[in-house]
Amino acid sequence: MVPIVQGSSLTPDLLTDPGLSRLVTEGRGSLAFIIGNAACRQRLLGASIHWDRILLAFEDGQAVGYAALKYQMRGPFALRVKPFVREFGWLSGTLRFAAFCLSECREWRYPFLLYGLRVSRSARNHGIASALLQACSKHAATRGFRAVYLEVPLANDRARHLYLQNGFSLLRKRWVPWPPVRTMRRYVETQP
Ligand SMILES: CC(C)(COP(=O)(O)OP(=O)(O)OC[C@H]1O[C@@H](n2cnc3c(N)ncnc32)[C@H](O)[C@@H]1OP(=O)(O)O)[C@@H](O)C(=O)NCCC(=O)NCCS
Repeated sequence: MVPIVQGSSLTPDLLTDPGLSRLVTEGRGSLAFIIGNAACRQRLLGASIHWDRILLAFEDGQAVGYAALKYQMRGPFALRVKPFVREFGWLSGTLRFAAFCLSECREWRYPFLLYGLRVSRSARNHGIASALLQACSKHAATRGFRAVYLEVPLANDRARHLYLQNGFSLLRKRWVPWPPVRTMRRYVETQP
């Protein structure tokens, strides 16, 4: 069984490990035109992680995957303008920050969103993403949510297959073609 823990339950010295923030900020590549490449994303967001919104999967004592969650208007990252201004300068930094905030607010319509899911390359096909999806559903259920939503990029066949295998179904196509994603939903059994 893959050990999965909520980030906020780790000790502060583990949470300051740059390897961990690198893993968690690797996602959101589709927003690279706003928040830059993986190294840039780590500088922008690495110090603003809400660890209570991160589930981490471990293999041989090493964090190898995460699921990032967004609910009750709180996602995995605090929105802070300072790192954007430091990285891109005042004008570009402020504009990029505003664009990032807009994309973050767009997702608040989902009661419980699987915001991101990623497994390190070397640990793929070991069932880690499936275990994270199970843990995510349990996390939602124990907090009284009835469903987990996510957005899968149209071009990501592998992820769509994984979600279908794990009980998610595709919702109707949206009228707006951007961003190029499909929404998926999995109902969960609410636990007392
Ligand atoms: C998509 C992604 C998260 C999948 O992670 P993963 O850990 O490899 O996924 P799993 O191992 O749970 O499932 C993949 C396959 O392994 C199989 N598998 C499941 N448990 C297994 C186990 N214990 N041993 C071996 N294989 C297993 C699954 O059945 C699945 O096979 P299938 O494709 O034939 O159905 C990973 O490829 C990734 O991080 N991609 C980049 C980021 C990304 O695209 N994220 C999704 C954004 S929407």
